[in-house]
Amino acid sequence: MPKFLDEDSFGFFPRMISRMFAARFIQSREEDHIQNIRNSLNEKRIGIYIHFPFCRSFCLYCPYFREIWNEKAFKKYTEALLEEVRLVGDLLEDENLEVVDIHVGGGSPSIPNPEFYSKLIEELESNFAIKVGLGIEACPEDLVNEDKVFKLAEAGISEISIGGQSFHDSHLRALGRRHSPEDIRKALENCEAVGFKLINLDLMCAIPGVPAEKQLKNWRMDIEEAIELGPDEITVYPTLIAPHCIGYKLLKNGKVKQPVEIWESSLLLARERLEDSGYKAVRIYSWSRRGEYATVNLEMIGPLISFGAGAFGFTGGYEWINVHSIEEYIRKLKENKLPVTVSRIVSKTERGVRFLVDQLFTAGRFSTTMLEENLNISFKDLPKGLRFGLTMMRIMGWIRKEKNVLKLTDKGFIPAHKFCWTFVLKVPCKLVDILTKNVWPSEVNIP
Ligand SMILES: C[S@@+](CC[C@H](N)C(=O)[O-])C[C@H]1O[C@@H](n2cnc3c(N)ncnc32)[C@H](O)[C@@H]1O
Ligand code: SF4
Repeated sequence: MPKFLDEDSFGFFPRMISRMFAARFIQSREEDHIQNIRNSLNEKRIGIYIHFPFCRSFCLYCPYFREIWNEKAFKKYTEALLEEVRLVGDLLEDENLEVVDIHVGGGSPSIPNPEFYSKLIEELESNFAIKVGLGIEACPEDLVNEDKVFKLAEAGISEISIGGQSFHDSHLRALGRRHSPEDIRKALENCEAVGFKLINLDLMCAIPGVPAEKQLKNWRMDIEEAIELGPDEITVYPTLIAPHCIGYKLLKNGKVKQPVEIWESSLLLARERLEDSGYKAVRIYSWSRRGEYATVNLEMIGPLISFGAGAFGFTGGYEWINVHSIEEYIRKLKENKLPVTVSRIVSKTERGVRFLVDQLFTAGRFSTTMLEENLNISFKDLPKGLRFGLTMMRIMGWIRKEKNVLKLTDKGFIPAHKFCWTFVLKVPCKLVDILTKNVWPSEVNIP
């Protein structure tokens, strides 16, 4: 049994993903970047992603791009962010776009005062046709003050995703979280009182540093308490271990152990209890009683226009990444320049692969008709290797075919998780790692 699970732990998935998602990003010149966005943005309904790259402290296994919260830097960041919205808004002015999804991720987007969101929404509305409210990711400790939660809603936030992780203090300490279980309960209560359109609660399992038997017992209680508290949606993440996270060295030198033996059973237990309690699977890691928190999957299938330091954008045919440094981001925007660092063209076939992976492995259902109607790609045009892989998965009973639809089976639930986590570690996490170490590289190759 390995000491912990990393990007190479899951059988043949690492090799498969390295082959399927090998990519070369190159330094992006602003003129080419603008031209590429214009040339490749063919759909009118888009999502918007905004990265809020500040946290009050760093959790041990967090793989995302964030820097330590600093009021002075935040003020300058706000100006830069609004400037980026204006620049991109001007660039896309004649495209008649309709924004159908807005999500602010992080980092910790719940730190700033609600006025930040009033200003941001105002700027978004003067540059884009907005049809939806804003969803934000939030730390529980930022939502214990009822007045702040009311003001966030008043400012225009309609969906909230709370990073609870666990109702056990020992689990929270092992992750390096700042909040208590009581903060999560209070945050949920305040969000319910405000009446957000959708409340999601994140929970984490397979946490390093909590022994297997004790963790599984507590995990069962965490799931029960989450069901009892009843947010609209509950999302369950097994802890990802990326080489650039703070806790990696602790695991590598054996100071901390991950209870790898409960990785699968924790997920299976969550699925069983949530489905028995009336929650329906909306993603392999999310169950809902009502709706789905902002469709983060637009990162995979596009079009997603993104803003902020460290944000990833994807038109469907072109992918770009903003600079992974708050200071550099602010500097670029002060010069009225877009803060893009590297980018690449994505072929139609590759977009088809991303669509299939997203639909089949995370949403659990892939339709060839949708591939044709939405993206104008025929199933026959997808790579031979991928179609062979799907045949093998059918033989193994992980997926089944019903007319022109492929569906993930119960047996395919754990392999799909392994596929997804390997992908996340090998592609976006690796990019964050490389781009925080060298913020203006001339070229980046992954995995
Ligand atoms: C980027 S955080 C944003 C919310 C906020 N910063 C927080 O942590 O509460 C979104 C979610 O990522 C998940 N997460 C953080 N570190 C993770 C890891 N190493 N593996 C899997 N999920 C992780 C947590 O469930 C967290 O709620
Ligand atoms: S998990 Fe959330 S709060 Fe913790 S460092 Fe990452 S983004 Fe910040």
